[in-house]
Amino acid sequence: MDKINLKRRDFFKGTGALLLGVAAGKILPVSDAQAKGVNVEKWPWPYEKLDPVETAEIAYKQWYKWFCGASVVHSVFYQLRKKIGEPYTLFPVEAFIFAEGGVAGWGTICGSLLGANVVTNVIIGPRTGGSHLGALMGSEIMEWYCEANMPVYVPKKPKVPVDKIPHTVSNSPLCHVSVGKWMKKANKPLGSPERRDRCARVTASVAYHLVELLNKWKDGKYETEGEFPSGDYSIPAQHNCEECHGDNVPEPPGSED
Ligand code: HEC
Repeated sequence: MDKINLKRRDFFKGTGALLLGVAAGKILPVSDAQAKGVNVEKWPWPYEKLDPVETAEIAYKQWYKWFCGASVVHSVFYQLRKKIGEPYTLFPVEAFIFAEGGVAGWGTICGSLLGANVVTNVIIGPRTGGSHLGALMGSEIMEWYCEANMPVYVPKKPKVPVDKIPHTVSNSPLCHVSVGKWMKKANKPLGSPERRDRCARVTASVAYHLVELLNKWKDGKYETEGEFPSGDYSIPAQHNCEECHGDNVPEPPGSED
């Protein structure tokens, strides 16, 4: 019951009117969405305010099935599928499971942040859709994540006792750095229940904050704090230059003035 797929009956509803072509000897039915001409590339997508706690709880539980990225997307879209239906029922949330472990285990961006950016860019729209706000809200969430004493959210029924999960500030949106700093402080390996629960809580924390911002946006009260660091540094980058480069942060070509 924790996911709503595009229902088979939606495909076959109203049959007669919707029977279209014939291919390889078969009659092809057309989905309701196609028939109604639902345009998924029209922004913003309809949004109704969600409860941050409920969203975080959904994300926390889902982490144990889908890990970070898809669980953040699911926590929002699952509720909007129920409240609104299309176009959310047309969105393949499960396809974002690849975000786990910083994209297929490569420790790049924390999957929960990838998921949050998917959500802001699907709901508010990409910057080519007329507004930079979706991207900037995603950027704001990345900045917030870097500075937060993670995990912030405490689930109602934690799978691991709260005092077993220390907090760390990543200063980085990278899965590798975020998880690595935490593993060092907790002295727990990647496969431990503690590390797993920590990431489930991080996922819930991001889902919570994401919905807080979306709700503000829905109320017309969202003023973004997001920015593109590439604009300041003349190279796409995270802010913690010294952590990787030491005292010798290189100047990108073209940045001297
Ligand atoms: C997560 C680690 C990391 C962070 C954070 C980081 N860099 Fe880098 N950066 C690298 C690595 C690795 C390279 C490639 C190896 C190298 O040249 O040092 C690189 C390359 C570069 C280059 C290419 C030219 C060169 O001389 O290597 C520039 C310029 C640069 N970084 C600037 C920055 C600036 C400015 C920041 C902060 C705004 C930053 N970096 C943050 C890891 C990082």
